[in-house]
Amino acid sequence: MIKIFKGNILFTPTPEKFTVIPHGYILVSAGKVKAVYQKLPEEYKNLEIIDYQDKLIIPGMNDLHCHASQYKHVGMAMDKELLPWLENYTFPEEAKFRDIKYSKLIYQKFIKEIWKQGTTRIVVFATVHKESTMQLLNMFIESGLGAYVGKVNMDNNCPDYICETSEDSLKDTEEIIIKYRNKSSLVKPIITPRFAPSCSKGLLAELGNLSQKYGVPVQSHLSENRNEIQWVKELFPKAGCYGDVYKQYGLFGATPTLMAHCSLSTEEEMALMKKNNVLAVHCPTSNLNVGSGLMPIRKFINQGIKLGLGSDLSGGHTPSLMKTMVYAIQTSKIFWANSDKQMDFLTNSEVFYIATKGGGSFFGKVGSFEEGYDFDALIIDDGELNYLDYTLEERLERFIYLGDDRQILHRYVCGNLIKEPVF
Ligand code: GUN
Ligand code: FE
Repeated sequence: MIKIFKGNILFTPTPEKFTVIPHGYILVSAGKVKAVYQKLPEEYKNLEIIDYQDKLIIPGMNDLHCHASQYKHVGMAMDKELLPWLENYTFPEEAKFRDIKYSKLIYQKFIKEIWKQGTTRIVVFATVHKESTMQLLNMFIESGLGAYVGKVNMDNNCPDYICETSEDSLKDTEEIIIKYRNKSSLVKPIITPRFAPSCSKGLLAELGNLSQKYGVPVQSHLSENRNEIQWVKELFPKAGCYGDVYKQYGLFGATPTLMAHCSLSTEEEMALMKKNNVLAVHCPTSNLNVGSGLMPIRKFINQGIKLGLGSDLSGGHTPSLMKTMVYAIQTSKIFWANSDKQMDFLTNSEVFYIATKGGGSFFGKVGSFEEGYDFDALIIDDGELNYLDYTLEERLERFIYLGDDRQILHRYVCGNLIKEPVF
């Protein structure tokens, strides 16, 4: 089925600049972009047009790192750094997800919120619990949004009330993979060792095997905080760097791999990421709130490492990828100022590219309006912000800096209009 969308189209095929098509047309066939036109060819003139008039049409937002299970804690518990933050706040909260009534309450609020904020695809951590993780997978399938959902693996160095046995951790993970890997084209499982310290060597090795046996992607945390990195050195003294721990167990690029933070990655670790095609997820709000290292994103760009953005709730305090883009630009300006302007800060088009096409690459052809890309889009009604002679790029910039969900009129995933989820 062909659909034609009309409006002010902005997207970033490359990080260098926006493609801007005022009052243009996007031709969508079976959920995929066929072409983008300034002038609609004669042959399509009789087809119905979904006319968004002066509104903006931009790609949907791709959040590559987020803890759905930490949604209750968003905007609180900001007074501790990473490891005590986990022990005091996060683990006790995640333990509650053994109760599927509680998990349903939180997960439904979570999915509604990310829908509201214009996130059309997301990669999330659930918790160690199998039932509530499957519930989250089912809820995402119902919502129409795209998601990778990870049952968290933790069998080591964590409190009893949240620690699994290695056997259960592996068995439950495999069961979820078998049940969900072919159930939905948009919602899939992802292997999720919480981070190296919380998994035994045996479990890391088995998870690596599992990822390759089923061709399932992997996500984890990497080089986020100094004490964490020191701990990993003590636990894995033979590894060349923190990333090398995952590498040794087949969890670093053997299948598509996301590593969140990488704020304090060494040159060696960055080279390992590049070599193994590992995608680094920049989580600027979380790095600021949990007092971890700030990520020198320009270095990652210069090395040619793939990048995406993550809200990292509840280390991060905002589910909005628009706001996360602003923080990414602002933190890059700290490096710019501190490097005597040697490290360029992010431009609008660069950060937009990372939030859309960069992050979208993890889901396939997602995050752009080039031919063959899934039509994931947001319709932005920025009338209130657009009261003078702003250009289209300025309008988008102002929406990103000043706007919120009130300006997001519609959300599309694979050409389908996604209504507010009701559970
Ligand atoms: N490292 C291990 N677990 C977590 C978590 O839940 N949040 C963050 N920010 N870092 C982690
Ligand atoms: Fe995280």
